[in-house]
Amino acid sequence: MTSTRKTFDLVVAANRLPVDKQVDEHGNVEWRRSPGGLVTAMESVMRSNPGAWVGWSGDAGEAPAPFDEDGMHLRPVGLSAEEVRDFYEGFSNDTLWPIYHDVIVPASFHREWWAAYVRVNRRFAEAVAEEAAPGARVWIQDYQLQLAPAFVRELRPDVRIGWFNHIPFPPVELFAQLPWRAALLEGLLGADFLGFQRQADARNFVRACRQLLGLRTKGERVALEDGSGRRVRATAIPISIDYRGLEELAQRPDVRARAKEIRESLGNPKVLMLGVDRLDYTKGIRHRLKAYEELLLERHIGPPDVTLVQVATPSRERVEAYRSLREEIEQTVGRINGELGKIGAPAVHYLHHSYPREEMAALFQAADVMLVTPLRDGMNLVAKEYVTCRHDLGGALVLSEFTGAWHELHQAFTCNPHDIEGLKQAMLRAINTPTRDKERIMRALRRRVADHDVQRWARRYLAALDAAPDVPAPDPRG
Ligand code: ADP
Ligand code: G6P
Repeated sequence: MTSTRKTFDLVVAANRLPVDKQVDEHGNVEWRRSPGGLVTAMESVMRSNPGAWVGWSGDAGEAPAPFDEDGMHLRPVGLSAEEVRDFYEGFSNDTLWPIYHDVIVPASFHREWWAAYVRVNRRFAEAVAEEAAPGARVWIQDYQLQLAPAFVRELRPDVRIGWFNHIPFPPVELFAQLPWRAALLEGLLGADFLGFQRQADARNFVRACRQLLGLRTKGERVALEDGSGRRVRATAIPISIDYRGLEELAQRPDVRARAKEIRESLGNPKVLMLGVDRLDYTKGIRHRLKAYEELLLERHIGPPDVTLVQVATPSRERVEAYRSLREEIEQTVGRINGELGKIGAPAVHYLHHSYPREEMAALFQAADVMLVTPLRDGMNLVAKEYVTCRHDLGGALVLSEFTGAWHELHQAFTCNPHDIEGLKQAMLRAINTPTRDKERIMRALRRRVADHDVQRWARRYLAALDAAPDVPAPDPRG
């Protein structure tokens, strides 16, 4: 009997599905939006480019049956509890994540974690191979799936394979620490086209291929020596957000009213500062709090005139570095409020929750100063979301030069978060610069995001993927 299974011309594979399975204490299942910038961006791409999304449901156990949502076909991949520990928390987030983010915390190396990474990448590739129509475009996402490109090529040589890295790609001196460095590079070289956030990331990858695999490289291309004559292109295509969709949401009367209400419930401060991050050590939350605390201690600013709202989304809570970060941040917030807060006017409002998109848009509109101070960040979509929500041209963005976003939004109030004095000055400038000048800056930032939205990013990426296969033309004489 022939199978009538539907297959797809576009298959996206990401560690997470766009929705996350939550089971409450009574066993009721609810699907909520998954955390992080990858999902924010790819969800809007998939709305205009229908296809299948292969990913993990966010909890341990057998994969739920495939289902359709918002015009997307979702194909869950199952991870056992041990694989969640070894592949997701272990190799992905305690080996690769720190190495790819400048070793802000030390990386751990364990051979069992690597074995799980190989196994799970193969499972993703098998699911992709089942979902892809003949000649389909397969678009693999991020550091959790660096072996999948080569596995997919083995299973389905007919499809076109792209990979995009949402996080930085490290300099070869750091990448070389990985005992499995050659296998990771070979996994990626299974793709036809590799996209990175910054040109520096693409160059780091090409250099790693040259120095660690001894391959010939020319500009953006790496020549394979497997007899195929293939050359793989690696270049920067920085990701973005759905500018129009978010701008429309931010214009809604209920969202604008909510922004006013937020300010009122905080006592209508003269300056409302805001931080919005996953609770991750890459985000520079500690440095931000230190700079803020010093500004209060030195009486440059203080409650009730100035207050800070820090939204810290729960993240990777079973990984030790994240657990200790949370403890440290919560202790620091407690100390700042204990020493510098006033009755009815705490110095920091700390919220450890996820919120609906409407509430985030209202918060962005309510904030006079947005603090985006990562020590290292592939892009940082929060920075782009903030300016998108400021159709009133109000507000000021303090932005770390170590984010991908800074390469596009360098008119912002730039800071090096390691330089606490400099960070304090940037915060004060963001408060004190005359309104007309701030409006001029905001207009320029908004124009950049409006012209370089996620739809344009996806078009550019897919066009580059279509143009990518770079093999010598077959000899017409056979
Ligand atoms: P990362 O991908 O490292 O988490 P980004 O800044 O690129 O960082 O993307 C974060 C995404 O998650 C943004 O779309 C942001 O609006 C969203 N987000 C962050 N914190 C929250 C929260 N507490 N509730 C809902 N969405 C959040
Ligand atoms: C970043 C990564 C994504 C990841 C997200 C949330 O954006 O680039 O791949 O999905 O963080 O992290 P989590 O570990 O919860 O998936």
